[in-house]
Amino acid sequence: MHKKILSIIKKKNKSKIVSLSAYSKNVVEILDNHCDIVLVGDSLGSVLYNYKSTREVSLDTMIEHSKSVRLGIKKSLMVVDMPYNTYRNSKEALKNAKKVILKTKCDAVKLEGGKKISAIIKTLVKNNIPVMGHLGLLPQSAKNFKFKGKKNYEREKILKEAKLLETAGVFSMVLECVESSLAKTITKNIKIPTIGIGASNNCDGQILVLDDLIGLNPINVRFVKKYANIRKDISKAVLNYAREVKSKKFPLKKHSY
Ligand code: KIV
Repeated sequence: MHKKILSIIKKKNKSKIVSLSAYSKNVVEILDNHCDIVLVGDSLGSVLYNYKSTREVSLDTMIEHSKSVRLGIKKSLMVVDMPYNTYRNSKEALKNAKKVILKTKCDAVKLEGGKKISAIIKTLVKNNIPVMGHLGLLPQSAKNFKFKGKKNYEREKILKEAKLLETAGVFSMVLECVESSLAKTITKNIKIPTIGIGASNNCDGQILVLDDLIGLNPINVRFVKKYANIRKDISKAVLNYAREVKSKKFPLKKHSY
């Protein structure tokens, strides 16, 4: 097995796995020092392109952003989201996942879903493509964005699917907006690490979207903690730049040829 993937699995029950979604080289160079996993998430559809849902994200868009991210990563495990309608059957999934890996040199791909895609995941894994799973709230197919695990039937289904994904061969799985005690049960009942987003600290690791936690993407949701206000910092810098251009303080001789 891929060395980096093995080291992620070995972190289970030892140390928390730190993960972020990001979409371009310059910022990834910074987070590579602090993250175990960098995900090129299809969340870029809403965060960068204002799409109504991640369903509008194309494979080519994922590939271009991933090529940029690859340039910024030296040590973290790089995972790329397979976008909507690119893994409807095993043949399509294999063709597209191979393309993603070949073009972006990523370490693994992530697919959303449980029972419906377990055979597809098995095919990818059999073909030496490392796969990360994604259960709970599934943005590519969600009808609403409520947390998962309130009802008993839903809890049983998600737990069953977590075990199914483990058997299919995923090396880890994201649990998105999964109720805390269910996240705990899943994490206890599988041997691979769970990475939570809105799924409490009962998971083996956490993931957020970088633009959310630095306050670049102006959203307010319960599971995001803002660690910076980068919009404010950029605004201040641009205001100063504009002032200096207008008052002819910039550029000076030293900035000119
Ligand atoms: O698309 C994404 O960034 C994700 C994470 C938020 C888990 O899937």
